[in-house]
Amino acid sequence: MVRLHVNIDHVATVRQARREAFPDPVRFALECEAAGALGITCHLRQDRRHVQDDDVRRLRAEIGTLLNLECSLHPEMVAIALESGADAFCLVPENRAEITTEGGLDVVREASRLADVVPALTERGGLVSLFVDPDRAQLEAGARTGAAFVELHTGAYANATGAARERELARLVDAARAAHELGLRVNAGHGLDEDNVGPIARLPWLEELNIGFAIVAQSLFIGVRPAVGSMLQRIEAAATVA
Ligand code: PXP
Repeated sequence: MVRLHVNIDHVATVRQARREAFPDPVRFALECEAAGALGITCHLRQDRRHVQDDDVRRLRAEIGTLLNLECSLHPEMVAIALESGADAFCLVPENRAEITTEGGLDVVREASRLADVVPALTERGGLVSLFVDPDRAQLEAGARTGAAFVELHTGAYANATGAARERELARLVDAARAAHELGLRVNAGHGLDEDNVGPIARLPWLEELNIGFAIVAQSLFIGVRPAVGSMLQRIEAAATVA
């Protein structure tokens, strides 16, 4: 079955709203693991708007599944990633004005920086993933970097409705096939919730889904373990549909 990794950033968003010690994203991560999540993802942004440096250290020390650290190509963030001991690194674009990561990394434009960063992170023992839009040119450039994975950006699919959503899904299916043909392993994420996750969980060659906001939001009403359990059920149900 496709692995669920839970992104815990928005637990830290709530904590940072009051600069309190709670709610603790590490405690949330442990609850997610207890409910069956197979990995924990966090994004240490350069502006430190949610996850803090100490959260990354504590996650590394305390979680028992995989730690996936999302980071930008800024030298400060890459230096932190190199020392983090994370199991996986997802390279993302970062723009200070954005509410959340808006588009995929421009792998074509960033080819020369990626030529340094991807091997450096890989040598530290982490699997490197590039967060990309479902676009053939980006995938071809991604394959040239030597990254193990791409994470296909599902935001446009999640935001679309009707025929436009079907078109976005078809782009993702084509991109997943193309990535595999190019030797890249396939993850996906962004904007996914219980209602839209099914078709994405059935993408060809998909290994991992990264889901954050919807699980954190649902946890407020039904609790962390039921929210993770319910998402896992949706993913499992999708896999059994012919
Ligand atoms: N994958 C990546 C690369 C992201 O940047 C994010 C958002 O931080 C996610 C997945 C999770 O998106 P969401 O919080 O909308 O589920």
